[in-house]
Amino acid sequence: MTPLQPRVAVIGAGPSGLYAAASLLASGYDDAGISVDVLDRLPAPYGLVRYGVAPDHVKMKSVIRVLQKPFDPAEVHFLGNVPVARDGAGSPGVPLEVLREHYTAVVHATGSSVDRDLGIPGEELAGSLGSGAFVSWYCGHPDFTELDPPLDHPGVAVVGAGNVALDVARVLAKSHAEMAATDVPDRVLDALTHSRVLDVHVLIRRGPQHVRFTPAELRQIGELANAEVVVHDDGLLASGVEDPHGDRRQRQNLEMLTGWAAGGGSEGGTKPRRIHLRFLRSPVRLLGENGRVSGVVVERNRIDADGRVAGTGEEEILDVGLVVRAIGYSAEPVPGLPFDERSGTVPNVGGRVVRDGVPVPGAYVTGWIKRGPTGVIGTNKADAAETVAALLEDLPGLPAPAHPDRESLLEALAEHGVRPVDWSDWLRLDAEEMRLGSARGADRVKVAELAAMLAACRAEAPVR
Ligand SMILES: Cc1cc2nc3c(=O)[nH]c(=O)nc-3n(C[C@H](O)[C@H](O)[C@H](O)COP(=O)(O)OP(=O)(O)OC[C@H]3O[C@@H](n4cnc5c(N)ncnc54)[C@H](O)[C@@H]3O)c2cc1C
Ligand SMILES: NC(=O)c1ccc[n+]([C@@H]2O[C@H](COP(=O)([O-])OP(=O)(O)OC[C@H]3O[C@@H](n4cnc5c(N)ncnc54)[C@H](OP(=O)(O)O)[C@@H]3O)[C@@H](O)[C@H]2O)c1
Repeated sequence: MTPLQPRVAVIGAGPSGLYAAASLLASGYDDAGISVDVLDRLPAPYGLVRYGVAPDHVKMKSVIRVLQKPFDPAEVHFLGNVPVARDGAGSPGVPLEVLREHYTAVVHATGSSVDRDLGIPGEELAGSLGSGAFVSWYCGHPDFTELDPPLDHPGVAVVGAGNVALDVARVLAKSHAEMAATDVPDRVLDALTHSRVLDVHVLIRRGPQHVRFTPAELRQIGELANAEVVVHDDGLLASGVEDPHGDRRQRQNLEMLTGWAAGGGSEGGTKPRRIHLRFLRSPVRLLGENGRVSGVVVERNRIDADGRVAGTGEEEILDVGLVVRAIGYSAEPVPGLPFDERSGTVPNVGGRVVRDGVPVPGAYVTGWIKRGPTGVIGTNKADAAETVAALLEDLPGLPAPAHPDRESLLEALAEHGVRPVDWSDWLRLDAEEMRLGSARGADRVKVAELAAMLAACRAEAPVR
């Protein structure tokens, strides 16, 4: 008798889910191996590589060639358009119990997509957005096609000193030609082309020595065709800011910032747009007119002896029509799994989900939902390997699922109103996006609306 293959569902086709799938395949478990399905609520794979990595970071997106490998020989099955436990529109999706009946183990790799709030007055105004929403819009995520961020005012504030803040500032400052060559949907390109934004104010609550930018990202804002960098540091850099950790990355950042502050990096101030890096500044309230943002009140900070930020009470008003918070993310709780609100993660030990310190049989996590919203794409590889190692150790002791076959899974999904797309369906959408790209002189132009994505997936012949 052929031994029953263990069946593993990976929920989330972002980097962590796909590294986990690859790791499961490579494990050489048993003679029969492991059957792996990767489920995603969207018809397109790759998570934040598709919907987070900035459109102009084309090289970074080439990691897709590695991430797609398990699908090529059809060793791993893709089930797209399958929202598990919830979907973006708030409907319940496919309950976790259904998956537990069909799989030996489930790896949750659903990331952290919830924008954090600043908790200041005025945040509810139109024109106050989290980076999750703003980035999803320009990346063509189907949940945000209608976002229509106001770009009709010359001032924008971006809060935060991480790479996402730099991505947002750079995209807002780029020229039409620079953006037309990317994969942004036509509608987004049109909005950016007609943008009246001239001054992007990056509000950084601590000093130049505390930024979380990577030097490669920081350098790029100094190389824009349309925008120059203006550093507002209250003379900190000229007085020689200390790098407390002797970190090479911070040293490079400080060198660049010092050069710009001294007027060495911005080519004489002839470009139409400016990116202002405003250190030691926190937004304390958003001002509104007719329900939308009309300004931001910013307080000057000082750093106390322990490196903590404290307000000085000194305030100024910046004239802005849009405020984007790039201050990090949290995850949505997964119904049926424990959740730690403070860290925005699912409690786990080395990837094994734990409830009150006790492992939940057959439940695993990897990626941002496991460790929180930090780390680059590559960080998820070792993270997924750790989770898969735990899963493989447990596998011999896990009970076989009640319905270990694909047909009954597809029936169960249909009962919940879900009709998945498979890898070849995705490849049809992929081809359609490349066809749209060639018409615009780009490698790809994204199809953003969910109905249009599904239509392209299911088209008999290429969509014209
Ligand atoms: C704006 C931004 C830009 C970034 N740029 C870079 C960069 O240039 N370089 C770099 O190295 N790193 C970058 N990163 C970091 C990198 O993207 C992350 O490390 C990585 O994507 C985290 O992977 P993940 O698999 O945990 O989550 P994600 O990539 O978010 O993947 C989660 C997947 O789960 C799916 N999902 C969510 N909920 C459900 C559900 N209920 N049912 C089914 N599926 C679901 C989602 O659709 C998604 O496909 C960036 C991050 C952000 C936020
Ligand atoms: N090209 C790339 O490689 C790339 C691109 C994008 C993202 N990423 C990665 O993706 C991860 C997430 O990036 P991220 O930029 O979202 O997060 P991040 O690197 O953690 O940066 C978050 C920033 O928000 C600030 N912040 C937090 N709360 C704040 C508040 N209440 N008021 C003001 N500022 C506040 C933090 O300041 P403090 O330091 O003072 O707390 C920090 O500067 C990171 O690991 C990043 O490197 C990589």
